[in-house]
Amino acid sequence: MQIIYSLSDLRSARQEWRASNATVAFVPTMGNLHQGHLNLVKAAKRMASHVVVSIFVNPMQFGANEDLDKYPRTFEADCKALEELGVSAVFAPTPAIMYPNGLAQQTSVEVPGISDVLCGESRPGHFKGVATVVCKLFNMVEPQFSIFGEKDFQQLQVIRQMVADLSINTEVIGIATERADDGLALSSRNQYLNTEQRVVAPIIYQTMTQSCQAIVEQTLSPDQAQSHIERILTENGFEIDYVAICDSDSLQSITQETQQGVILIAAFLGTTRLIDNHRFTLSAK
Ligand code: PAF
Repeated sequence: MQIIYSLSDLRSARQEWRASNATVAFVPTMGNLHQGHLNLVKAAKRMASHVVVSIFVNPMQFGANEDLDKYPRTFEADCKALEELGVSAVFAPTPAIMYPNGLAQQTSVEVPGISDVLCGESRPGHFKGVATVVCKLFNMVEPQFSIFGEKDFQQLQVIRQMVADLSINTEVIGIATERADDGLALSSRNQYLNTEQRVVAPIIYQTMTQSCQAIVEQTLSPDQAQSHIERILTENGFEIDYVAICDSDSLQSITQETQQGVILIAAFLGTTRLIDNHRFTLSAK
């Protein structure tokens, strides 16, 4: 497995693969890899001759009071796990390579509408940072396939919209969320939870899946399901950022036309912000 730091080395590797008509699947990450990431890599392996994984903790997507400095960095262990999975190359640029003129001078990508709600509202500028770095990485890696986890559902939809709007030549593929046995979605941030918080955390998944079922069976309306989830989470010590029940394409309110819906939750346990989502299908009206 090659570990590539510079853009010129990445372009040389890419050129070699292109010359042999090899295909490339790309998994962008911020490192601290867990089973969820490794599943994305396994899916990528099934799609293309070469898998490239980027490891870059992107300063542009962190707000001033967020966890950029304490974001866990485990580069050596990450590379070992990726090598075992048969990844062709890890691309690990520095901030100076990604943003040579500094963040203030960086041309940016903004995906309107879908970036402004939910996590976009609580984390202003977050999706601009994500869209910009992912757009740059797509231009650098030039992958035929790009693999993202569905756990960050809004991020996935923002990237799909960006790829469509900017005619980027890659197929974006979402992979189902990897969960612990008790349903908690795997995330690098779970390690911030203390023992008691870790016991309570799966309530997000439990209440979300039960509420999806109630909406589909029409025993609860989306509004009632939202209030129900908010009550359960609050009673169990979560501080809610948002509970939203939306159309899964637009992330706007459910309408008569909505067929695919999604429940999205962001809630704090102590200082740890957890997000999760679950999709459901509404029967034709
Ligand atoms: O999901 C992540 O880990 C990041 O947002 C991504 C897509 C690697 C961009 O920095």
